Amino acid sequence: MNKNFWKDQVAKGEKLCFLAPMDGYGDSAYRQTMKRTAPHIYLISEFYSADGLVHSKFLPDAVLPHQTTEDPLIIQIFGKDPENFAKAAKIIQDPKYNIAGIDVNMGCPAKKVVRSGHGSWLLVHQDTAFRIIETLSKATHLPISVKTRLSFDGNQDLVEFAKGLENAGASLLTIHGRTAKQAYTGNADWTNIYDLQKHLTIPVIWNGDVMNFDQWMAQVKNLAWFMIGRWSFGNPWCFTPGGYNPTLSEILETMEFHATKLVEVKWERKWSLEIRKHLVQYLTHFPGVKVYRKRLVTTESIAESMAVIADIKTEFRDFLEKRPAAWEITKETLGLE
Ligand SMILES: Cc1cc2nc3c(=O)[nH]c(=O)nc-3n(C[C@H](O)[C@H](O)[C@H](O)COP(=O)(O)O)c2cc1C
Repeated sequence: MNKNFWKDQVAKGEKLCFLAPMDGYGDSAYRQTMKRTAPHIYLISEFYSADGLVHSKFLPDAVLPHQTTEDPLIIQIFGKDPENFAKAAKIIQDPKYNIAGIDVNMGCPAKKVVRSGHGSWLLVHQDTAFRIIETLSKATHLPISVKTRLSFDGNQDLVEFAKGLENAGASLLTIHGRTAKQAYTGNADWTNIYDLQKHLTIPVIWNGDVMNFDQWMAQVKNLAWFMIGRWSFGNPWCFTPGGYNPTLSEILETMEFHATKLVEVKWERKWSLEIRKHLVQYLTHFPGVKVYRKRLVTTESIAESMAVIADIKTEFRDFLEKRPAAWEITKETLGLE
């Protein structure tokens, strides 16, 4: 992708959406699962340390290889040293990895990240933020985007910050409609994001509390893009237009796919612990599943997780073509209450 890729897409009238970068979620297995159901979305990885990519012998080969079905894949990095961003970019753009773009994290509110001068701390140290983008922009042919927040604590001017990033070479901005101080509390506020787009020539992406494609379409106004994070947990259908509700059979089959991909990209022990948190989320709307949830969060191996899914299939075989989210399956119809 060239540096103007995002602007060109907007010029073509595309209104596409992104999977939000999410640490502990956005690995290759998660991304493949989302994109399989929603081929129109752009994928961004969970964040990786720019310093780590530069200094670790193992990190680049552990996190940059991916499946072609994930393309075009954007890698998110964090850090504070402009030179290390440039060095990390050289690694990321190695043709063997086929990465399509680099996103810079300037929004993470986690204490340990902020204390190290990374993430949302760059909203306070804006000169460093601009130098990072300038240096990165010179070092790579890939498009550079930035994901940030409304401000750090309400005392920074978003328009000034965003203009500085645009001038430094950012070609797309994502704004999570909360301050870093708010972390995830309160509601995301988009009022300023609509206004921000009027001051910039690069596309602005809206992020925060978007539940699904249709909700976003109703509120899009002058924005071109949106990004979904938490509502994608166990729910790749959130990206599908028209309020699509999957059948139980589709949900179970997607769980199997996700589990299989995770075991392909990670080693077994790590996989069996990680898959627990993913699989239970797919069953959110399924009222008869309490007992299976309990089993899913204690599985120790792929065989055990697959066995739970197989048991659900057998026990609820008459309901496989029903749609749990539409509450066609109720506790009453299942004879549970
Ligand atoms: C578990 C988790 C991990 C996250 N990790 C990252 C990250 O690595 N990089 C980042 O920019 N944002 C990260 N975020 C923030 C999300 O990308 C997103 O901005 C936030 O969840 C708000 O969007 P949502 O309401 O659609 O979830 C994370 C959020 C969650 C819940």
